[in-house]
Amino acid sequence: MCGIVGLVNGHPVARDLVAALRRLEYRGHDSAGIAVAGERLDTHKVLGRARDLSALVAAADPAGHAGIGHTRWATHGRAELRNAHPHCFGGVAVVHNGIIENHAELRAALREAGHDFASETDSEVVPHLIAEALAAGADPLSALADVCDVLEGSFALAVLVEEVPDAIFVARRGSPLLVATGDRVAAVASDAVAFAGLPVRFAALADGEVAELSHDGLRFAVQIAEARAWSAPPVAAGTGAAGGFAHDTRREIAEQRAALEATATGLAALDLPGAVRDATRLTVVACGSSLLAAGVARDAIERATRIPVELEVASEYRDRHAAPAAGGVALLVSQSGETADSLAAMDRQEAHGCPTIGVVNVTASAIGRRAAGAELGVAATKSFTAQLLALMTLGLRMGRARGTIEAGFDAALSAALDAAPALVEAAQAAEPDCIAIARRIATEGEALFIGRGAGAALAGEGALKLKELSYIRAEGYAAGELKHGPIALIREGSPVIAIAPGGPGLPKLLANMSAVRARGAHVVALTDAAGAAACRGAADGVLVLPGASAEEAPFAAAVALQLIAYHVALLLGRDVDRPRNLAKSVTVE
Ligand code: AGP
Repeated sequence: MCGIVGLVNGHPVARDLVAALRRLEYRGHDSAGIAVAGERLDTHKVLGRARDLSALVAAADPAGHAGIGHTRWATHGRAELRNAHPHCFGGVAVVHNGIIENHAELRAALREAGHDFASETDSEVVPHLIAEALAAGADPLSALADVCDVLEGSFALAVLVEEVPDAIFVARRGSPLLVATGDRVAAVASDAVAFAGLPVRFAALADGEVAELSHDGLRFAVQIAEARAWSAPPVAAGTGAAGGFAHDTRREIAEQRAALEATATGLAALDLPGAVRDATRLTVVACGSSLLAAGVARDAIERATRIPVELEVASEYRDRHAAPAAGGVALLVSQSGETADSLAAMDRQEAHGCPTIGVVNVTASAIGRRAAGAELGVAATKSFTAQLLALMTLGLRMGRARGTIEAGFDAALSAALDAAPALVEAAQAAEPDCIAIARRIATEGEALFIGRGAGAALAGEGALKLKELSYIRAEGYAAGELKHGPIALIREGSPVIAIAPGGPGLPKLLANMSAVRARGAHVVALTDAAGAAACRGAADGVLVLPGASAEEAPFAAAVALQLIAYHVALLLGRDVDRPRNLAKSVTVE
């Protein structure tokens, strides 16, 4: 979380820094700021979106050829201008991503030495500490290395020093940071999208490295990586009204067919690792929508492979006491590939010697280039259905390799995976019905999503999408659990969305729907042709989605749930692409 960027170039960098921050904004958008080195450090900050920096910077037109920038997701200190980065002291400007866990002790010690602070942030101690080290005679690079030694927690830092106006000093521990170099140009950023359009190649800074970036390239105070994998920057992804859509989120809902086709092509070229083929159990470790995608795919994987699939919340899993089961394989599922909780869980797996497989949508990786493509909206949409496709494909391939999948299920699952791209496109036609459902939810100000099996996980995803985009309180429940407590929430008119495709689970779900309806709920069933007739008798509204089997149903239902959440958010005037309090890459624990 938080996006940081730095640029050293042969011409003024301020406008390029703001452009890069706009591309990094999905990492946080509480405030934005830049500092540019000239005769003195020139700092500009705004509360809110990076686009509002553009006017400030155009008016000031800073001349410096080196600068740093930051887009913030608040952890320590409210979203206020005084807490916006860069933080400056004594001719040192710093942008920080991560959490300095010992900031209170450091702040107290600095206060005793006469320092005053302008912000409530953990980050502000860093420029003070560097300024102290410089005053004691250290050069900037060793000053930063020494300061990193006293910091606890996770950090990616980019530092500008007034006395060295053509260099940026960088360091990382835990939080991601990429460095880029080219002909008399150098850059640093949290994410490769910041380098789009720059004539550079980029690589990851290794954990613990401290370096100086200048026209002459990289110089290290601490160097850990012996060799680096250098890549070309990505092409800048479209934003806003691209393709005639009002929001990136809506465009990404619409482009799911292409995303799934690209994912299927990438998966076809992938060899099933031996450890996965022979696994005695799969433990999926993930967060948010990524975990819910695994929940939807679990039934299909278990049926194909005959091994248990456990679902673990990454932030909880890392602190579990029991060791992973022998013969088990962990599947780390993450759109961004950066989620701190998932990475910590991965460390735990590796410490126990348990094989770990990543299912990611990172465009910089070889698989990622054939994955769903960059997703700019904070809400997972096309990455969710792409994860679903990837996980169900994994189940099919494992089932075949192990010889455990029955012929009939092999045929049904293969047909669903082949049909998935067309299904997510055909489901877009449900938008008018989704708008009608959205109106009721927006008016009532609440929603309960229910389902059984894969539908229960989809219910969770429907509720999560609605919460994050519209800020309406929503619950997603396994329908059979309602009677154990949540049914008390039902009142006259409560909107209930049931994920109710035809299949063996439907009769019990119909009974659950009838039970909430009997208590005044307004029930809408998201079903398919096989379930439509039965649902008509148990719901107030029925939306018949495309799909010819229980394996196909989740793809169309996921799109309908996305459209419902999107339209509730629109009706309530929410910032769809940048929902409050959220960031797309969650790099703090
Ligand atoms: C989904 O809409 C959310 N943005 C969020 O729950 C997300 O899925 C979660 O933070 C996990 O992120 P990851 O897939 O990048 O690891």
